[in-house]
Amino acid sequence: MDSLKFIPLLVLLSFLSVYASRSSFEDQGINVQSTPEPRKLKGPPPTKVENVELVLYYETLCPYCKEFIVKELIKVFDRDLIDIVNLRLVPYGNAHIQEPDNTIVCQHGPDECYLNSIQACAINSRPDVKQHFKLIHCVENQTIEGKQSKEEGWKSCCQKLRMNQKPVQDCYDSGLERKLILQYANETNHLVPHHTYIPWVVVNNQPLYDDYQNFVSYVCKAYKGSPKPEVCRSLLPKINSSGNADSNGQASIRVKGSRNN
Ligand SMILES: *[C@@H]1O[C@H](CO)[C@@H](O)[C@H](O)[C@H]1NC(C)=O
Ligand SMILES: *[C@@H]1O[C@H](CO)[C@@H](O)[C@H](O)[C@H]1NC(C)=O
Ligand SMILES: *[C@@H]1O[C@H](CO)[C@@H](O)[C@H](O)[C@H]1NC(C)=O
Repeated sequence: MDSLKFIPLLVLLSFLSVYASRSSFEDQGINVQSTPEPRKLKGPPPTKVENVELVLYYETLCPYCKEFIVKELIKVFDRDLIDIVNLRLVPYGNAHIQEPDNTIVCQHGPDECYLNSIQACAINSRPDVKQHFKLIHCVENQTIEGKQSKEEGWKSCCQKLRMNQKPVQDCYDSGLERKLILQYANETNHLVPHHTYIPWVVVNNQPLYDDYQNFVSYVCKAYKGSPKPEVCRSLLPKINSSGNADSNGQASIRVKGSRNN
């Protein structure tokens, strides 16, 4: 009999709990309804996307590096490719650090170590890649002919390009060059996968192995923005259709068309 006394209370409690759960459900309902709104306000995805990371691991006197920098890599600055690329040059290559005094030893001898340091200093004192690449390109071109001494060579390039050589010389004289080279050594030695030769060209962390001369195609393929730069659109027939059709329908059509011919 005692338990019957509680029945009205139980009814009241269950009514309250239903009310409470309904109101919390309504709260959830409001949340669910409010989430799509910011999505509607988002609008179309931005057309400006991240630039493609293009990194050259090299050493200044290796013949294939010289060829690549002078004849191929300069194409980054042709037309509009540079607008979508973050180009970095890492002058260290197959150098190594020798115990016990931590001397830096370069594959092509002390002249190469000197020019690696000069180029590291050029990059440091002129961070704009358009500026330091001009100097590096000129120095590499001169080493192909090999008529001037290592020191005359880069200084005459500065004169030719009307660049102040003092910041580069100061960097070299102050020992900052060694710090820069040790950073490049660390970066080169931490490459995953490790470089097996040089020039070693990496696009968005993917090495191109011996297909490095085709770096423009890889850069264009890696770029997710639209429209693609003019230079990429003119390259389309050479780019594989797979993985490219999604970002630009024209690519697969034109590739298929050229295959049929
Ligand atoms: C490269 O060097 C050669 C010979 O020194 C010179 O004739 C040529 O103009 C240089 N090329 C560039 C692109 O600087
Ligand atoms: C060396 O490189 C690795 C990987 O890039 C980085 O995590 C580390 O901080 C670097 N060490 C120094 C001393 O710069
Ligand atoms: C194109 O395809 C070939 C074969 O499938 C492949 O070896 C090559 O790396 C591809 N090139 C590019 C630029 O993706």
